[in-house]
Amino acid sequence: MFIGLDLGTSGLKAVLIDGAQAILAEATAPLTASRPQSGWSEQDPADWLEAADQVMQALGAQRSLDAVQGIGLSGQMHGATLLDASDTVLRPCILWNDTRSVDEAAGLDADPQFRALTGNIVFPGFTAPKLAWVAKHEPDFFARLARVLLPKDYVRLWLTGEAVAEMSDAAGTSWLDVGKRDWSDDLLAATQMTRAQMPRLVEGSDVSGVLRDTLAARWGLPKGVVVAGGGGDNAASAVGVGVVQAGDAFVSLGTSGVLFAASDAYHPDAATAVHSFCHALPNTWHQMGVILAAADALNWFAGVTGRPPAELTHALGPLQAPARPLFLPYLGGERTPHNDANIRAAFLHLDHSLDTVSMTRVVLEGVTHAIRDSFDALSATGTKIDRLIAVGGGSKSDYWVQAIATSLDIAIDLPVSGDFGGAFGAARLGMMAATGAGAEIATRPDIARTIVPDPSLTASFAQAHARYRDSYVALKGLT
Ligand code: XUL
Repeated sequence: MFIGLDLGTSGLKAVLIDGAQAILAEATAPLTASRPQSGWSEQDPADWLEAADQVMQALGAQRSLDAVQGIGLSGQMHGATLLDASDTVLRPCILWNDTRSVDEAAGLDADPQFRALTGNIVFPGFTAPKLAWVAKHEPDFFARLARVLLPKDYVRLWLTGEAVAEMSDAAGTSWLDVGKRDWSDDLLAATQMTRAQMPRLVEGSDVSGVLRDTLAARWGLPKGVVVAGGGGDNAASAVGVGVVQAGDAFVSLGTSGVLFAASDAYHPDAATAVHSFCHALPNTWHQMGVILAAADALNWFAGVTGRPPAELTHALGPLQAPARPLFLPYLGGERTPHNDANIRAAFLHLDHSLDTVSMTRVVLEGVTHAIRDSFDALSATGTKIDRLIAVGGGSKSDYWVQAIATSLDIAIDLPVSGDFGGAFGAARLGMMAATGAGAEIATRPDIARTIVPDPSLTASFAQAHARYRDSYVALKGLT
């Protein structure tokens, strides 16, 4: 048996699978992010450990865990968890969707070695500019910094006592030489840091450590359970849905929205704002377009209306042509294709006829247009996508998935357990580390249904997307 733990932004999910990869048990513990200022987003790492403890207890309550051989980790990327010399957390983790370090990111991005070695823009959400922000605004913490860990790697430190990162998540720090799959001493030096402050690097399918005996005893696992490197949540989801070879792609509607394509080689194209990162398997890379608010935008609107997101989407009926009103989902700035930390969300062209149902459609259409922007950015790099799998909580809405299918004019497959992509992929990586299996076990999942574009609406989605693009240009710079 193998366990996958996926530390998301809105919750920590766990799955238990057997040797045939059948899901035996699942558990989720909710998490929230705090936003002390506009554009900031933080979590207390202690909450992750508590959530991990909760889901492990919940798995153990459903099945005996005494045959578990391996655990894999998946997690929200880019977060900066700052530790002192005794591994005490110095301040709340600054998350992937926090854009406070916009000035520091622009400064690092202007240094040509960053794009040359990392293959990516230095986005404010990435880790290195956050450390530059801490150095400037919280110098006492920076002076005490002994280690910086990505979120799931902090959970690993607690699970195993080992400070280890793996390539897919490390690629999102702006400190990794992504082609060489190694930390760059030059990039670290540019943020006044050294390799000694960084975790050891492994591949996602390698063993990173062994579960501590005290935790094994607490949760009823045997001694000697190995913990795999795992993957950033997008790379781990890709392993979960078999997106491991060039031409394979998925769309993720989690808190963030991601259009992800696997590649057989390192093909950076930083100027497009497409992310080019290592995959969680050796010698493979991937590209992705990332938008900061996908399900996050729906959840925000649900909060405003006081209705649960599922209730909002259930009321929508069949797919309709996009309405004249527009929603730009830039609640906390945007990455692909704009790299614009200062833009904020907008509703445009509202009229008297709008109600909660039609506004919900407008919100989902806005995120759909943003995903279309990422599709165009990926296409501009030469990456061709002709079929997609959908994962993430938002993929439970047929309306939304069909809007995206129609906007991209691509059929979208829904896997049987779409909400557990990251955790399932992590469990597969745990299995690889424990048994020596390789990419061959990262097969395509069973497909529950395929959602096809509505050809009568593709032209109206294309027109609405063009208006959406123009609206961004009109609003850019408006503060
Ligand atoms: C990817 C990114 C997000 C987070 C969400 O670059 O920032 O997808 O990983 O968890």
